[in-house]
Amino acid sequence: MSGLVFDFNNAMAGMVSHGFEIQQSDEAMVAKAHSAMQEGQMGFRELPRGQEDILDDIIDTARDVSERFDNFVVLGIGGSALGPIAVYHALGQQSDINFFVEDNIDPERLNRTFGGLDLQKTMFNVVTKSGKTSETMAQMMTVAGMLEKAGLKLSDHMIATTDKENGNLALIARKEGLKTFILPSNVGGRFSELSPVGLLPAAVCGIDIRGLLQGAAHMDEVCSREQNNPAAMFALLHVMGMQRDMNISVMMPYADSLKFMSDWYAQIWAESLGKRVDNDGNEVFVGQTPVGALGVTDQHSQVQLYTEGPFDKIVTFLKVDKFASELKIPKAFEYVQDIAFLCGKSFSELMAAEQSATEYALCVADRPNISITLSEVDAFSIGALLYFFEMATAYAGEMMGINTFDQPGVEEGKLATFALMGKQGFEEKKAQMDALSKKQDKWIMQ
Ligand code: PA5
Repeated sequence: MSGLVFDFNNAMAGMVSHGFEIQQSDEAMVAKAHSAMQEGQMGFRELPRGQEDILDDIIDTARDVSERFDNFVVLGIGGSALGPIAVYHALGQQSDINFFVEDNIDPERLNRTFGGLDLQKTMFNVVTKSGKTSETMAQMMTVAGMLEKAGLKLSDHMIATTDKENGNLALIARKEGLKTFILPSNVGGRFSELSPVGLLPAAVCGIDIRGLLQGAAHMDEVCSREQNNPAAMFALLHVMGMQRDMNISVMMPYADSLKFMSDWYAQIWAESLGKRVDNDGNEVFVGQTPVGALGVTDQHSQVQLYTEGPFDKIVTFLKVDKFASELKIPKAFEYVQDIAFLCGKSFSELMAAEQSATEYALCVADRPNISITLSEVDAFSIGALLYFFEMATAYAGEMMGINTFDQPGVEEGKLATFALMGKQGFEEKKAQMDALSKKQDKWIMQ
């Protein structure tokens, strides 16, 4: 079991000149957000402790799947895919099952994945909260066609994760007799990783899902505190940053296992906080662009910009104290004095030194940065980390006075896709889109 350590020192004005000085008005903003968080009915907050009745079913189903199948393929996108990808890369890579998340509709990729599967040995998990996302529906229809052609029964090879009542998947699941896990109606896609959306794929990959939830429950206690609340502090610093045009939030894990946490974070931060209007309907056009970077790899591509470019970023490092395995650098080429210092050191030592060096480089360049340390990457710490960012996002949304949980911009795109693909009832939308097109040939070059 491992908790997380949050270090906000390097974001403070005393440490870096572009850092933050927390005023009374900021403290008042935190207090207001805290009361709203206490009162608000946020479905995702029930997940750490409120799923005891379904955990055995998830674990039993996962065991059955991993015993009978070689491949487990998640069909989903956005909040239905990024969490499973992040958690698999953090914890599940040692499992025997071949794990795929098809979160795109690139025909080349789909042909490659689907073409390489022995369908007899494949279980598909269709995940969609709304049950009507075109991408996921198209994938599911394709898989249904493939199974039919192979003479296999849909219900033997497909599990649904969706809303209880709404959407096409709930209907299909009932009609076809699919094993179904329910995504609570008050939990949105990007806040759903700790629901069956993420728990079933994780369990199939042999991940300790009770450990994930215990980590989340621990973090719920930590992030419910009135004082010393790291989620509120992370949110406050980023909101203060936005007020000063620091419109970029960089997430930089120093561990390959956490690389996809940045993608998951990017979605929750961008989709939750990027909003046109505030809660009173005023146009505010707020948000902060999340950027993923990987330590140490991106020290050699992006860090130059972070240290000398515009003062528009807050960098968050994810650090790991103890890697799951170690590798020592042997004594070699002893006649080259210049590299002798590496002899006998470990790669985790080198990794830690490089992270500290980057932190130092940012500080001397007066760039605010935050560190979150995991003592090790285990189910508990990953559950805690996911939940921490969910809470930080919710806090930030409260401080910004916006609706954290909707995504009207995404919905607009979904509806436009329906119109372009000829869905019945969307003829007017299509006409509106055609009328809007004012493209001129002079701006098209070949
Ligand atoms: O967070 C969200 O709500 C979105 O990113 C959705 O997860 C994404 O659009 C997919 O939607 P659905 O799960 O309804 O297919």
